[in-house]
Amino acid sequence: IFQDIELAPPDAIFSLTARYKDDRSPQKVNLGVGAYRDDSGKPWVLPVVRKAEKIISSDPTLDHEYLPILGLKSFRDASAKLILGSNNRVIKEKRVVTAQTISGTGANHLGAIFLSKFYQQKVFLVSKPTWANHKPIFDTVGFDVREYIYYNPKTLGLDIDGLLNSLKSAPNGSIVLLHACAHNPTGVDPNHEQWKAIADVMEAKGHFPFFDCAYQGFASGDIDRDAWSIRYFVDRGFELLVCQSYAKNFGLYGQRAGCLTIVLRNSETATKVESQVAKLQRAEISNPPLHGARIVNLILNDPMLYAEWIDNLQIMSSRIKEMRKRLFEKLVELGTPGNWNHIVDQIGMFSYTGLNASQAQVLQEKYHVYLTSNGRVSMAGLTTSNVEYFAKAIDDVVRT
Ligand code: LMR
Repeated sequence: IFQDIELAPPDAIFSLTARYKDDRSPQKVNLGVGAYRDDSGKPWVLPVVRKAEKIISSDPTLDHEYLPILGLKSFRDASAKLILGSNNRVIKEKRVVTAQTISGTGANHLGAIFLSKFYQQKVFLVSKPTWANHKPIFDTVGFDVREYIYYNPKTLGLDIDGLLNSLKSAPNGSIVLLHACAHNPTGVDPNHEQWKAIADVMEAKGHFPFFDCAYQGFASGDIDRDAWSIRYFVDRGFELLVCQSYAKNFGLYGQRAGCLTIVLRNSETATKVESQVAKLQRAEISNPPLHGARIVNLILNDPMLYAEWIDNLQIMSSRIKEMRKRLFEKLVELGTPGNWNHIVDQIGMFSYTGLNASQAQVLQEKYHVYLTSNGRVSMAGLTTSNVEYFAKAIDDVVRT
């Protein structure tokens, strides 16, 4: 029956991890997948997460029963407060629906299925470029996925005019995917004035904001600053949707903890939307997984643990900033042709280096350095011991 099926291409990000694992070179460096590493290149379990796990494992009242369909209630409530701000009036006015999801990917998927059933417009705009999984998620659900201009390869920065023009020329009511902070893959975010201009066009065109937020607190070390764009759109009165992932900011990659939050015009609509989201969730996953949500729940709802989490976040974001600085300084020291300011100007886990696919290929084959073919580098894979090696490798590929 299936003999005529085409072979699917390997996943751009996870296939790199597999190749890196198979590489026997002691000098190999993984700058592919966006996963935090400590300065010895090892995965880092946040100390606050270890603490929460101990508390959970020694609590005799906890069992492994099913969660409700929409997930752990206190986790959902804490997630909505984290992303929208605890005093946001939309929460008080009960205009918010929150579902626990299979991390950010699950939130994107559930949000997309919801819109595919209950929203008229099928045009779904994603930034050019965007996270490698966005298009497949929205394609799978049946949207007409198109790109809006975002990045200017000449300036290595935001093309705000191109962006606004793309939004203006899209059909009215298009769904627009917006990265709340630390744009993946470019690390280039709009500033507040630019966000305002984006909101103006979206309002005039009746576009629907679909926020993806995978780096709250991880990008700048400041929870509120990283959620500014979302809260700004909410304050302007948009109905919108937000996907939250706790993979990066809690280091809970494999636990798949996340949330989908939908902000609505009034509480009556919220009640109806919540019932439909629950129906979709039941058909898809029945109910979400426990462990990661329990950890996040405990930390977000305990002031001492919360404060410790903020400290842990700062350790991660400042190590990444330090690696940006060192890489930049090394390239300048080597006199590597080109301007490398973008390495320090970009924000979050990734740097969009400007290296092309063939340079990325040489880096992999000659230097055992793994990065995606679009030139994206996970800064978290750099350490004080390999940053110079990487700078020299860049220097070589740029010169040849
Ligand atoms: C990445 O962009 O590398 C991460 O978000 C991991 C993933 O799921 O692709």
